[in-house]
Amino acid sequence: MKNWVIKLENVTISYRLDKSVARKSNVSRIFTPLDGIDMHVQDGEFLSISGPNGSGKTSLLKVMSGIMNPFKGKVHRKVSNFGFVSQSQVLLPELTLRENILLPFFLANETHYSDISYIKNCDEQEIHEKLMANVKRFNIQSIIDKSPRTCSVGQQQRALLTRALMMDCDVIFADEPEQNLDSDGRIELFKSFQEANRIYGKTIVLVTQEHPDVLKRYVSRCVKIKGNEIIEFFSRAS
Ligand SMILES: Nc1ncnc2c1ncn2[C@@H]1O[C@H](COP(=O)(O)OP(=O)(O)OP(=O)(O)O)[C@@H](O)[C@H]1O
Ligand SMILES: [Mg+2]
Repeated sequence: MKNWVIKLENVTISYRLDKSVARKSNVSRIFTPLDGIDMHVQDGEFLSISGPNGSGKTSLLKVMSGIMNPFKGKVHRKVSNFGFVSQSQVLLPELTLRENILLPFFLANETHYSDISYIKNCDEQEIHEKLMANVKRFNIQSIIDKSPRTCSVGQQQRALLTRALMMDCDVIFADEPEQNLDSDGRIELFKSFQEANRIYGKTIVLVTQEHPDVLKRYVSRCVKIKGNEIIEFFSRAS
């Protein structure tokens, strides 16, 4: 195996259902969408994960990033700074896109987040230059001082990607960020992720429902969840 940054060894993901719900539906209290999974994320790759609804894609991202512990098995991580681009609207509508993107830096002055070295080590000029370079690259410069309420979903997704890049994270996790976009918007977003991967060298794990023929143009490796298995069906190197 090449240079991995995250490795899952015999990982089982389970949820403990509420007693009354389990009794009512006459099902076991423990629900296990994924059982005994082995997989890895390589350093610098753009990995896509596909699979049917409910197959465990979001759960897999949560376990990879440490938001959730596996029920069984081991998750090894060589990196710890993660960025997230989700499908839901997570930008604060009271703030502009610029303020949303820079929120972690504002917080750094106020709270214990100032312990995070990559925030502490940035000066204002550096932050401004980095912001401008990113917003230009992702074509959101004209709306940077608007509220997310007045921006399209694609623009908001690119703002989230910009924030992840500003934070200098090692791995960016994206959970079906294309879901509310039309086909042009999806292509634009995939291109932005490809740039984040190729130009900024970010490792990207993208959960997506996009068609494999489209995906293969942008990602370096594709895996899919089939039943209880993770199957690799495309790798640029192979
Ligand atoms: N908190 C929870 N409690 C109980 N069951 C859960 C919980 N979260 C998810 N599940 C179940 O685990 C399974 C996997 O969920 P997950 O959200 O990971 O699927 P997914 O592949 O991301 O689905 P989708 O394509 O709809 O986003 C689903 O059957 C879901 O109902
Ligand atoms: Mg999901």
